[in-house]
Amino acid sequence: MNTGTDFLKEEFFRLYGDRDKEPVLFYSPGRVNLIGEHTDYNGGYVFPCALDFGTSLLVRTTDRAEIKLASLNFTGGIAIQVALNYLPIPGSWTNYPVGVINEFASQGIGAPGMEMLFYGDIPNGAGLSSSASIEMATAVAVNDLTGAGLSMIDLVKMGQKAENGFVGMNCGIMDQFAVGFGMKDHAINLNCDTLEYRYAPVKLVKHRLIITNTNKRRGLTDSKYNERRAECEKAVELISCHHPLRNLSELDVNDLRMLEEYIPDPVVRRRARHVITENGRTVDAVRALENNDIDLLGRLMNDSHDSLCNDYEVTGAELDTLVYEGRKLPGVTGTRMTGAGFGGCTVSIVESDYAESFIKELGEIYTEKTGLRADFYLPGIGDGARRIRFA
Ligand code: GLA
Repeated sequence: MNTGTDFLKEEFFRLYGDRDKEPVLFYSPGRVNLIGEHTDYNGGYVFPCALDFGTSLLVRTTDRAEIKLASLNFTGGIAIQVALNYLPIPGSWTNYPVGVINEFASQGIGAPGMEMLFYGDIPNGAGLSSSASIEMATAVAVNDLTGAGLSMIDLVKMGQKAENGFVGMNCGIMDQFAVGFGMKDHAINLNCDTLEYRYAPVKLVKHRLIITNTNKRRGLTDSKYNERRAECEKAVELISCHHPLRNLSELDVNDLRMLEEYIPDPVVRRRARHVITENGRTVDAVRALENNDIDLLGRLMNDSHDSLCNDYEVTGAELDTLVYEGRKLPGVTGTRMTGAGFGGCTVSIVESDYAESFIKELGEIYTEKTGLRADFYLPGIGDGARRIRFA
């Protein structure tokens, strides 16, 4: 057990008492997406990896028909009665775990009485999937403690459903999948239509992966996100009057002329162009990484950001400052926003020798231009959600 866990356990006993009965520890990572943004709900490819930071969850079952939830990151723990279905509490962080417990209940798998304590070191609302991490920690825990024996893909789908139905964020499947299926030192090439996937080793010998947090609060993210989804659905509807189409990812760059022909609204046309070109870039990026062509991977990441900025319009001043100022610095191979956008983080590939100067210089420029302070992380790529056995 590391000291982090000792600390969490101490807090657990302080909160719930009864030191004679040990809780069980589960762990679930955050994720960063290398490329393939806003493609998941369009049936396209994504290329995320799980991080080596995430959410720890200590749980102890009780013989009372009550579930207690608390977090060291958020105020407002709650106690709810074990039930056949649960209701969301507007604005509460507990909707992520309770939404998952509700999914189990809707499948006839009632959760036992539990005492739960969460602690995460993923910055909240930064586009690194702190919510999917809480969902998947809960899913793995309830699956384990009830002996339900559901597969990881079932748990991933339940996490996504909880977020869609219970939290009200109409997300795709990428985040829960990456958090559930993460593998140390590998990125996951996932086809979000078929859910086929394969792992690609990330062996950056002369480069570092750097995540930069804009620290901009993401106000309207959910509504803007849902608006982009609706625009993509509109594009499919218009094109499918002329050409059979289930989702935009069935098209490739050779089909772009269809957008001019069949979509009169230039905004909807640009949204569709982003999805189609991004899907192609993701396929190319996987190949580039497999061929160890980091320069090409970097160029594709740059193109991805440009497309998210100009065609999909989900970047904003803070992300654009980090990316376009970052690109001027020496040793920067590629840099782009990651996650839903509108704030949150960028992911960059930087030559190792320049990592330190990148952090220093970009940090200064960013503060000068935006008045905000950026945080930088040098993450490792970690494993997916799981039970941790105490040593
Ligand atoms: C959020 C969503 C994902 C995905 C990304 C954009 O992280 O939860 O499903 O759509 O945005 O790629």
